[in-house]
Amino acid sequence: MRVTVVTAFPELLEPFTRSGVIGKAVEKGILEIRCINPRNHAEGAYGQIDDYAYGSGGMVLMPEPLARAVDAAREEGPATVVYPGPQGIPLGQHLVESLAVNEHLVIVCGRYEGVDERFVEEYVDLEISIGDYVLTGGELPAMVIVDAVSRMISGVVGQESAVEEDSFFRGMLDTPHYTRPASWRGREVPKVLTGGDHEAIRSWRRGQSSARTAGRRPDIIAGANIGPYLDKGVYVILVPATETIPAADLSDMAEACFAFGCKRLLCVVHGGSERKSLQAHAGERVKAVSTMESAFAWIQKREKAEPFTIVSSGKAGGIHWLELKRRALDSGRPLVFVFDMTEKEKIPAGAETAILGPIRGGKGDVSLSNARDAAVVILDRFFGWR
Ligand code: ADE
Repeated sequence: MRVTVVTAFPELLEPFTRSGVIGKAVEKGILEIRCINPRNHAEGAYGQIDDYAYGSGGMVLMPEPLARAVDAAREEGPATVVYPGPQGIPLGQHLVESLAVNEHLVIVCGRYEGVDERFVEEYVDLEISIGDYVLTGGELPAMVIVDAVSRMISGVVGQESAVEEDSFFRGMLDTPHYTRPASWRGREVPKVLTGGDHEAIRSWRRGQSSARTAGRRPDIIAGANIGPYLDKGVYVILVPATETIPAADLSDMAEACFAFGCKRLLCVVHGGSERKSLQAHAGERVKAVSTMESAFAWIQKREKAEPFTIVSSGKAGGIHWLELKRRALDSGRPLVFVFDMTEKEKIPAGAETAILGPIRGGKGDVSLSNARDAAVVILDRFFGWR
């Protein structure tokens, strides 16, 4: 990846491009960073690049030196031009990942009051803000953008699994980290981390991530895949509208559920021969059962825990999916989604159950009559990558 930073202060970026992980990536040739100084593209003998702003009197970068600098950057081919500014769209992991697919990024650093708006209109593809505060120039945001984007490029960060596990990559906050000594100024490293039980460590880390995210950034849970943070399995129970549901439809739905990390699609069919036929033809991701009770009993036996059940009703008055996502994460239980297309079955007493509100869209509350469609929409909210 190539990055060209248009800046009147290239000396600010110099140490950044030579140190640490970024310095190594530059050295290895995975990343190329260069600076173009708009002063070298100024019109007058004094290298003037700024002037008084019409109307307010502050200083603004003139459009022509910036335009010429970007033209020079683009001489070797097309590039995406980014302008860091507090009016831009907020930089988040999704945007970082989108920027990482570019072969050449040109980042134009503003100073003073900003840059002439006509330059932005003519040259800038994306205006990006790194937060709701005002800095004295675009160089620090440029370094922030380059740093975050570079980490997405293969070979930049030594251990790529570390990138995957990082905060925000899966939409949740990171766990706390510790190193030696195990005891420091009377503070101990959590016992579980020194015990060597890897399953217990994974479970502890999942718990820490969930608790931190719920406590500090509940807003980001909406966009997170909570699958990796659940200690127990996820199941879907379907009560089809008709007992003669085609096996192909069922395996199709099971495939969709499986794609979101569900362990099994259980289908309640009372009739013995219909059930046998379904089991024979629907594939191993489907389990045909005779009653809702037996579906729950099977899950409970397999998971050795009482599930947290989410019933999709399609009717107004249920709980918002985001609140249920938070509760599911908090419960530490196996998760069961129930789609009862007959609206007749009872959930066994004792199971912790919540009713999910309808899917909202179009002109109002949309109730999807097709169980597979409803399952895909709902499972995507809990386990989709955003
Ligand atoms: N330039 C000045 N303030 C900025 C901010 N918050 N984000 C990006 N660029 C900026």
